[in-house]
Amino acid sequence: MKSISVASGKGGVGKTSFVINLALALEELNQRVLIFDADLGLANVDIMLGLSPKFDIRYVFSGQLTLSDIVLKTEYGFSLIPAGSGVNELTHLTTSQKLLLRAQMEEAFKPYDFLIFDISAGISDNVLFFTQLAEEKIVIVTPEPTSLADAYAYLKVATKRARLKEFNLVVNMVRDDQEGKKIYQQLLFVCEKFLPDLKLGLLGILPYDECVKRSIRSQIPYLKLCPDAKISVKIREIAMKILQRRNLRKDKELEQFLERFTNL
Ligand SMILES: Nc1ncnc2c1ncn2[C@@H]1O[C@H](COP(=O)(O)OP(=O)(O)O)[C@@H](O)[C@H]1O
Ligand SMILES: [Mg+2]
Repeated sequence: MKSISVASGKGGVGKTSFVINLALALEELNQRVLIFDADLGLANVDIMLGLSPKFDIRYVFSGQLTLSDIVLKTEYGFSLIPAGSGVNELTHLTTSQKLLLRAQMEEAFKPYDFLIFDISAGISDNVLFFTQLAEEKIVIVTPEPTSLADAYAYLKVATKRARLKEFNLVVNMVRDDQEGKKIYQQLLFVCEKFLPDLKLGLLGILPYDECVKRSIRSQIPYLKLCPDAKISVKIREIAMKILQRRNLRKDKELEQFLERFTNL
């Protein structure tokens, strides 16, 4: 099981739509995918998919159900662990809540090839916690200066406080690849100057596309709604790239994941 985190610092840059369509693109490549909605106070993945889950992570923390019990299989093939919405106390997980997750994660995650964390905006403790768990760490930015500033703030906290060293960038909502590359260069320049330990790669560039808005309004992933749109082609390329550089020691992935958890 390979774990991936998707964060951004700033909200509204396209994390949740990216996570859903990446899950679908990996699913198309015959991978078994589980999305963990780690935006614990403000669940969005279920809404974007038009689902109304009966159970969510709150049932796990209250001890009524296990993590495996609340896994929801979507009509698209991939599965989802829904977050609770409007629950302030979830925005900062306690140590005992984390330990509860630790105890139940192995069983819940074992059946999957990929686990994707849709992380909340900001640089809170939860954001760092889920980032630290993931093997592959993705950051999403848009060409807006505020998005770049917030992505930098996130990377700074992740490298300085959590000592994480490798991230991959996805530039979203660009006019063309040229603009995407420029944004990557800009962020890379600042990171090389002020965060010299950090290795920042470029995973992909996604265009601005009206289909994304239509897809969210109709609660259907854009990969289904506009399968031939440029953004759909691009997200498939990203899925392929992620699949290709998957850990060769697949059997070790879950073990390493649990080890990272224990070392936190
Ligand atoms: N590539 C894109 N092209 C056009 N609009 C986009 C694109 N990606 C995201 N959006 C829009 O940005 C808004 C926020 O997207 P969302 O996935 O909810 O972001 P986040 O999870 O980071 O808050 C949505 O209204 C969505 O339609
Ligand atoms: Mg979101």
